[in-house]
Order: sequence, then C-alpha cells, then structure tokens
Amino acid sequence: MYETAGPAVDDERTNLAAADGPPALAVPYDATHLGAKPLRTERMVLRPLLPTDADDVYEYQRLPEVLRFIPWPERDREEGRQHTEKRAAWRTIADDDDALIFAMVLVGEPSVSFSREGVRGDRVIGDLMVRVSSAEHAQVEIGWVLHPAFQGRGLAFEGAREVLRFAFESLNAHRVQALLASRNLASAALCERLGMRREGTMVEEEYHYGEWEDTAVYGILRREWAAAADSATAARLS
Ligand SMILES: CC(C)(COP(=O)(O)OP(=O)(O)OC[C@H]1O[C@@H](n2cnc3c(N)ncnc32)[C@H](O)[C@@H]1OP(=O)(O)O)[C@@H](O)C(=O)NCCC(=O)NCCS
Repeated sequence: MYETAGPAVDDERTNLAAADGPPALAVPYDATHLGAKPLRTERMVLRPLLPTDADDVYEYQRLPEVLRFIPWPERDREEGRQHTEKRAAWRTIADDDDALIFAMVLVGEPSVSFSREGVRGDRVIGDLMVRVSSAEHAQVEIGWVLHPAFQGRGLAFEGAREVLRFAFESLNAHRVQALLASRNLASAALCERLGMRREGTMVEEEYHYGEWEDTAVYGILRREWAAAADSATAARLS
C-alpha cells in the first residue's frame, strides 16, 4: 500500500476497481419523460425545472445568504427569469458539462405564483443539479440549493439522496462528486450525510465576492453507494 495526498490506494481497492469494469455512462439521456414520470420522495416531487417556476426560484435566487457559496451573480427578477428559462431548457445529457436541473416541489406548499388559469400549484423550494463532469470516465457532479425557509428539515438530504440514486441507476455513473466552498459547512454536512467522502481540497480555486475560496471535493463510488443502499434496505427489513 502507498499513501497519496488523497485516499489510500490498496490492493483491495485496486481489485474492486478492476471488477467494476470500464466506464459506461448511459448517454445520451433524454429527460423529457421525467415531466410525466418524475422522481418522488416522501415529501417532494422532483421533476425537471420549468420556465413557469421562475417566480418560486427567484424567492431563493435573490437572497444574499443563498448566493454566498454559489457561483451565481445577483440578478433582478427579469434576469432571474431568463436564468430559469435557460436552465429549464436543458433536457438531454450527452456530453461533458451537460446538466439537468430537478425542481424540488414540496407537496402541499402553495407556489408564490398563479398559473394563467389562476391555479396555484405546489411550490418549488429549491433545485438539484446533475451534470456530466466526464462522459468518457462516467463521472457526474451533483449540486443543490434550497430556500432558507425550508432548510434544517432534511429536505435537501431527501432530494439529494434520490438524485444520487438517479445518477447511479439511470445515468450509470461510476463516481459522483460534489464541489463546494470549503467554508460551506451546511453543504459539507449534507455530503457527509449522503455517505460521500471528502477527497481533497483545491486551494484558492475560486474568487468569489472579493475573496479567494478553497474548494472541497466530495465523492462516492457506485459500489460504495450500492453497499450503503443495500445495508439501509437490510436494516429496514430486519
Ligand atoms: C446546502 C443546503 C442545501 C443544506 O440544506 P439543509 O436543509 O441544511 O440540509 P439537509 O436537508 O441535509 O437538512 C439537515 C438539517 O435538517 C435536520 N433534519 C430535520 N429532519 C431531518 C430528516 N428527516 N433527515 C435529515 N435531517 C433532518 C438535520 O438535523 C439538520 O439540521 P442541522 O443543520 O441543524 O444539523 C442549504 O444550506 C443551502 O441551500 N444553502 C445555500 C445554497 C448553497 O450553498 N448550495 C450549495 C452550493 S455547493
């Protein structure tokens, strides 16, 4: 065994990695059907973001405490609407940097806006991203943002856990990573809760709001996720 700056590499891991075989990301992936057949969690529906979500999204997109650790500029309402329209148009995952945004729709919580028919649907309280880091190597990134009024209730965890499953089961990722400002302790705690390992720190990797920020890298392998999911199921059934 030899030590590296990151996690140790040993014979056992080398053998497990070999047994996993070569990368085979399931792309191109057309997410259109997720509109009619969304992901579901205990409290939420996770479906692709829509242009009509712009008002709900703006409720968190405009808050300084939300922007603190996200590479989003301050936007006025119109810029926010354009940003939501842009992200809502992403439906096919095929190449590096292609992304899909899941709206976190909290069932029973009224949206801040009314539809053209005067109907008030359920509210989008945050969103979850899956993005291809490397199609060739089956590496996928996940990310999250949640309105502060809905934080501290395990909703980000509930949604992110489902999107992690999506990355492994639907996209066939070999590894899923999250990249976050080192000082973003809420995000780091979420990664840990999801079973992700802190793999390293990129020092002064971004310049954000007048400061250099270190970036923490968290990751989880498909086989680690599968083992954790199996033991959770076993615990539930016992
Ligand atoms: C990162 C972020 C999504 C985390 O949200 P969160 O609500 O803290 O995350 P979780 O869903 O995991 O909730 C955890 C909290 O809910 C509590 N909780 C309550 N019920 C729970 C349940 N059923 N399951 C899990 N946690 C539960 C936990 O104890 C924990 O509380 P604590 O923070 O006081 O310890 C949120 O802080 C955020 O959107 N920040 C701004 C945007 C941002 O920085 N995004 C990340 C960029 S990398």
